[in-house]
Amino acid sequence: MSQTAGRVIVRVPAKINLQLAVGPLRPDGFHELATVFCALDLCDVLTASPAGSLTLDVQGPEGAGLAADRNNLAWRAAELLAGHAGVPARVGLHIEKNIPVAAGLAGGSADAAAALLACDRLWGLHLPAPELAALAARLGSDVAFALLGGTAVGAGRGERLRPIEGAASFSWVLAAADGGLATPAVYAELDRQRGLGDDAPAPVVADPAATLAASGVAEAVTSGDPELLAGRLGNDLQPAALALAPYLADTLAAGQKCGALAGLVSGSGPTCAFLARDGEHARTLARALAGTGSCRQAFAVTGGTARPTVLG
Ligand code: C5P
Repeated sequence: MSQTAGRVIVRVPAKINLQLAVGPLRPDGFHELATVFCALDLCDVLTASPAGSLTLDVQGPEGAGLAADRNNLAWRAAELLAGHAGVPARVGLHIEKNIPVAAGLAGGSADAAAALLACDRLWGLHLPAPELAALAARLGSDVAFALLGGTAVGAGRGERLRPIEGAASFSWVLAAADGGLATPAVYAELDRQRGLGDDAPAPVVADPAATLAASGVAEAVTSGDPELLAGRLGNDLQPAALALAPYLADTLAAGQKCGALAGLVSGSGPTCAFLARDGEHARTLARALAGTGSCRQAFAVTGGTARPTVLG
């Protein structure tokens, strides 16, 4: 395998889940789920440069305090790819972090996907897409979607993907929170709530694929009609995220009051996503929401058609 001389730059999108139906806990510690992933035009940018060994540095508006070692999923992605391909893990990784961390936006997964794409190119491997997707799935449940982008149905623990052809793009406002939530803690809280019996705020979902199909969300994303999509959003993790971060109830109420078509917690939270009619409505909504003080920051994004881009 030859190593090309130049550096490789990859832009890779954050995601929200338009529907997240969470089934029972599996013996392997993951939950069976059925989801619709939606890639956002909020991207991290990873640069991979030739180097004598594996190094990583993280900068950018959301980069403060983030691990720049083996605890970072991008580092582990480079190691995994090198081991798989039988090449030395010689690369200098630089991440410009724009996606909030521990926020339910799969920012760490995005960086891992970016590292796979960039190192594959830098090291001249050119692995077939299914092989990269299999490596992605070993790194985390959301990494395979970050490689793909667009809008897709996810099954299994989220790694089995089927793109939704003809999915439209929609305008959203993201409300970023001050703190983060750990994904395992949110799933554990859901299990706890479900274990409480009939009065639990989170009923057990036996067949997440059936729940997803019944929601009609896949049809709504191809319709391009935000009013239709608004009634079809859902997130089984939301009651658990609200229990761990009760302030999110205020954020969701503020978004509703400011005129969002709908709002929900993104993935395991704590970011909240609000659906707007169009880009102009999203920008107005973001300003109004930021003015309420119910979140750290509110900003307009577009979701549904963003894809990872490899430059260089
Ligand atoms: O796959 P990933 O590393 O992103 O998952 C982080 C944690 O989230 C898992 O260790 C598990 O606790 C929880 N999880 C889950 N079911 C899924 C995906 C994630 O329980 N389908």
